[in-house]
Amino acid sequence: MKKVLMIFTLFFLCLAGVKAQVFNSGTAWLDTNGQPINAHGGGILYQKGTYYWYGEFKGSGKDGNKAKHGVSCYSSKDLKNWKNEGLVLKVVNDTSSKLQIGCVIERPKVIYNHSTRKYAMWFHHELKDQAYKAALTGLAIADKPTGPFTYVKSLRPNNNYWPVNYPDSLKKPLANLDTPGESYKYRKSNGDLVRRDFEGGQMARDMTLYVDDDRTAYHIAASEENGTLHISKLSPDYQSFTGEYYRVRPGESNEAPAIVKHQNKYYLITSGTTGWDPNPARAFVADKITGPYKSLGNPAVGTNEEKATTFQAQGTYILPVQGKRETYVFMADRWKPKNPIDGTYVWLPLTFENSKPVIKMFE
Ligand code: GAL
Repeated sequence: MKKVLMIFTLFFLCLAGVKAQVFNSGTAWLDTNGQPINAHGGGILYQKGTYYWYGEFKGSGKDGNKAKHGVSCYSSKDLKNWKNEGLVLKVVNDTSSKLQIGCVIERPKVIYNHSTRKYAMWFHHELKDQAYKAALTGLAIADKPTGPFTYVKSLRPNNNYWPVNYPDSLKKPLANLDTPGESYKYRKSNGDLVRRDFEGGQMARDMTLYVDDDRTAYHIAASEENGTLHISKLSPDYQSFTGEYYRVRPGESNEAPAIVKHQNKYYLITSGTTGWDPNPARAFVADKITGPYKSLGNPAVGTNEEKATTFQAQGTYILPVQGKRETYVFMADRWKPKNPIDGTYVWLPLTFENSKPVIKMFE
């Protein structure tokens, strides 16, 4: 009881800290050494009383989104005080490696596998000097939550597999999309991009991971030129794809996926696709993780400006607070594309009202 109370109190302490940050846009959140936390597009792993926050280590200036260092990790027992655990995945000074300095690493997420006792980090990976064309998902593994993580591979998933919820009539690869009479927008929603990418593998950009109660892990990524989310089942060791995947909300252009299970339903919160500029968040609910997902509209409650911009931020993760039932934090990034290192974090309580997720500013 005492422990639960402590966590409860710490949680509110933590929210107080976040509040100041949200109101002072541009103010850095300092780690326990007094340095700004540099872990953008982050996700959290909780293990044995410690939260580990992994994120993109951004730089300054117009190239600040390119990976010059890698993925950073911070640890905390109370969600407020974060100790810098350093760079846990490092980019390399080797032009023959896909992980060379200057590539793009975004939205890293880490999960723990009980059978192999390894930590698996998956991340959105773009190759050096190729903008966002590669659309790969990368894997690195470690023996400890604080790394070091060893880079394993980057790939476009589910090659030579059709989505489970895909009509038989479309199941034939398509060499190009230049058939006259059908708009690209239509082709994006009807699934033709899955056919185009059937052999090479499906695109994977903004992503998250989710481990279900039965320990099956899922990889959720913006695919099909960001038009459609793909939810893919990972192998039992979490280190590869099984070929079982599902298209979610075809053609609706969702990205920045974050997911939480609440009272046996799966709630997905996404953003629209406006690059670094914020837009209204979107909430969805499903009975099964693989969908179908029903739209619940914009979960942000507040002023028109707050609703239109999701508090000037874009989601990255939903954190269930340990020891406190049904308490969640919606983690988001307030991007600063001109000087990415100045980006700040917006963490807000996520609650449920009438079975719908609600994200609100503090009262
Ligand atoms: C955003 C996305 C970010 C990053 C950015 C690049 O929409 O959520 O993670 O990829 O686009 O423009």
